[in-house]
Amino acid sequence: SVPRSAGGGLLGGEAGLARRVSPQSWTRIIIEKPFGRDLESARELNSIVQAVFDEEQVYRIDHYLGKETVQNLLAFRFSNGLWEPVWNRQYIDHVQITAAESVGIENRGTYYEEAGAMRDMVQSHMFQLLAVVAMEPPFSFEADAVRDEKVKVLRAIRPIATGTAREFTVKGQYVAGWVGGRQVPSYREEPKVSPTSRTETYVALKLFIDNWRWAGTPFYLRHGKHLPKRVTEVAIEFKRAPHLLFSNGTGGEQLEPNVLVARIQPDEGISLRFGAKVPGPAMQIRSVNMEFLYGSSFLRDSPEAYERLLLDCMLGDPTLFTRNDEAEQAWGFATQLLQEWEEDPVAEYEAGAWGPSEADALIERDGRRWRKP
Ligand code: BG6
Repeated sequence: SVPRSAGGGLLGGEAGLARRVSPQSWTRIIIEKPFGRDLESARELNSIVQAVFDEEQVYRIDHYLGKETVQNLLAFRFSNGLWEPVWNRQYIDHVQITAAESVGIENRGTYYEEAGAMRDMVQSHMFQLLAVVAMEPPFSFEADAVRDEKVKVLRAIRPIATGTAREFTVKGQYVAGWVGGRQVPSYREEPKVSPTSRTETYVALKLFIDNWRWAGTPFYLRHGKHLPKRVTEVAIEFKRAPHLLFSNGTGGEQLEPNVLVARIQPDEGISLRFGAKVPGPAMQIRSVNMEFLYGSSFLRDSPEAYERLLLDCMLGDPTLFTRNDEAEQAWGFATQLLQEWEEDPVAEYEAGAWGPSEADALIERDGRRWRKP
């Protein structure tokens, strides 16, 4: 809610801390996510903040952007000539973005009941991943050039039309089960959670980005608590070879499509799956992986995401922070979906499983499957 001064007016920088006192000095403010809880509150928050600070003083943190592997997606796409020509609807069949967590809500019942998976992870971290994967090449690596392109992607996400939420989305909630050899209670039995809660701890989405690059290419996103393991990855699945030369017992018919996987965490790296000939006199084809692993290629540890971001803020570089319009754009989609979901029941999944069966149906209807990372 909007803070008010004793006189009833909006609080507006009365302490004077936001003012620059000399040409060399600076004042910046870092705001942690969630930035609001829907479009309206995000707009309200933006206007309160902007009444006191200039946008260039405002650093909205999304710690996923501080992860080395997320920045590496930018490096991978835009420092190589190889990928951009095939990074589009002509060559890519679909994209899967997974942010799976084995942990539950970790004693954050009060917060999580209000937030749910959509607000907690999807609207922020996962949409940032989506934007980095789908954006057009910025003309420079300067903050606004990068953020302009990310905003364009968020604006191009097709909204979930009224009455179609079940076709494009699944919300789930875990019931009791086993995760990593440990028995865990159902979400509704967690401390500070309502026994009749309908808050989602799992989300699966099928999205379309309506622009020239991506028209018709589905992006499948999923996130959940108490899934079998912690893994965040972006998988780009390419279309199959147009004509299969190798069939009739060569293994070519079952050959998997080429998949490029950017592993955000853990086991950070990038792998490319392709068909190779099995050694021997016959033409047998099998899928193999070409791997780049951070751990073995660079013999030093990555900085923590927050270390990097706090340093950038002190240096005055907002490239890896969320701009006001970016936050509002992401909320626009999320708010509409949350409204659509209001009356919908939440699908159950056993803690330790890969989400509800409805999420499998969502992707299998299209003749595709979720990866088992
Ligand atoms: C936070 C969410 O922003 O990100 C948590 O509030 C979530 O619910 C966490 O667990 C995930 O971050 P990471 O860096 O562990 O993937």
